[in-house]
This record gives sequence, C-alpha cells and structure tokens, in this order.
Amino acid sequence: MPALSPDLNNRVALVTRGSRGIGRAIAVSLAAAGATVAVNYRQRESEAARVVSQIESAGGRAISVRADVSVADDVKLMIAEVESRLGVVDVLVNNAGAGTFCDIDTLTEVEFDRTLAVNLKSAFLCTQAVLPGMRARRWGRIVNLSSAAARGGGLVGVHYNASKAGLEGLTRG
Ligand SMILES: NC(=O)c1ccc[n+]([C@@H]2O[C@H](COP(=O)([O-])OP(=O)(O)OC[C@H]3O[C@@H](n4cnc5c(N)ncnc54)[C@H](OP(=O)(O)O)[C@@H]3O)[C@@H](O)[C@H]2O)c1
Repeated sequence: MPALSPDLNNRVALVTRGSRGIGRAIAVSLAAAGATVAVNYRQRESEAARVVSQIESAGGRAISVRADVSVADDVKLMIAEVESRLGVVDVLVNNAGAGTFCDIDTLTEVEFDRTLAVNLKSAFLCTQAVLPGMRARRWGRIVNLSSAAARGGGLVGVHYNASKAGLEGLTRG
C-alpha cells in the first residue's frame, strides 16, 4: 500500500464514499499512514466491506458506515456512529461526488439539485458535524475533492462545474 508521510496513528479518518474509486485509494492510504478509517458508502455495502478487509489484512483498523451524505439526518447518524465506535473524527475527506454527463439544454432541475446536494451540500453537512469534535481536540484536517471543472469547461456539464466551484468557495471560507 502507498504510504503517506504524516503519522496518523491514533487518528480517526472518515472518507465519504470511500468504498471505491479515488475514495477507496484515499481510505487505504490513510490506513497505511496509521489512521483508523471509517469507509462511507451509500448503497454498495459489499464494496465497503472489501475495503475494510483490505485495510485489516494489511494490519490496519477500519469500519464501514452507511449514509447518503447529501441528507442531513443521514450525516448526523453517520457521525454519531463513527464517534461512538471509533471516537472523534480527526480527518474528514469529502470525496463523494455525482454528475451525470448532460448539456445545459437538457439538464433537469432534479439533476441540477442532486449534483449540488451530493457535491457541495454534503461537504457543508459533514464539515459542520465533525467540527465540534475537532475543536474539542484542537486538531483536525478536512480535505475537499474538487475538480479542474471548477475553473474550466469540462465535459460533465454546468451543474458539475457549479458544484465544484461552490465547493472551492466553501473550502476557502
Ligand atoms: N475521477 C476523476 O477523474 C475525477 C476528476 C476530478 C475530480 N473528481 C472528484 O473526485 C471524487 C471521487 O471521484 P471518483 O471518480 O472516485 O468517484 P465517482 O465514481 O465519480 O463517484 C460516484 C460515487 O459517489 C457515490 N455517491 C453519490 N452520491 C452519494 C451520496 N449522496 N452519498 C454517498 N455517496 C454518494 C456513489 O457511490 P454508490 O453508487 O456506491 O452509492 C457513486 O458511485 C469526486 O468528488 C469527483 O467529483 C474525480
């Protein structure tokens, strides 16, 4: 497994949609750096379980936790579960992303709203939920996965561009 330079022993990390893709690689890397990792998934429990097994096989510690991170009540339950099983979240990686390829002429209001909710609102909800714990421990790291589409054209569509531009604004704020 790739190793990160920081020592994250005794740290708890949460990776939204850490069950596959870039999120999976981040979860595995954080575990290799010593963190105990909560692997969020929305639907694919078995994929999250495989990431947990991969981390445990390498000597790390991980759990999987279900939540649709665009839904406030789900986020509250997810953070409560992680805190009760692992402790306060020290490292939050807002990785979950959505964006169906669609041009502006055919983009629906539903898809626009869903993309903003998954890519932008989720980061707000998760960040707000972990901040009390980070403040109490006076330590915390939050990583938001943006995209070059935030500042350029890109192929996915204006809904995706807008969501990532908003995420960068949230990050700077
Ligand atoms: N791949 C790239 O080239 C690229 C480039 C720039 C930026 N990024 C960003 O990097 C991040 C990871 O990209 P990726 O390519 O690995 O992911 P991806 O496959 O594009 O992400 C889609 C996944 O996000 C999960 N998801 C969607 N809505 C969710 C929700 N409400 N709650 C929890 N999970 C949800 C879904 O998981 P389930 O189907 O399992 O529910 C879905 O499979 C994203 O934020 C993406 O925008 C990616």
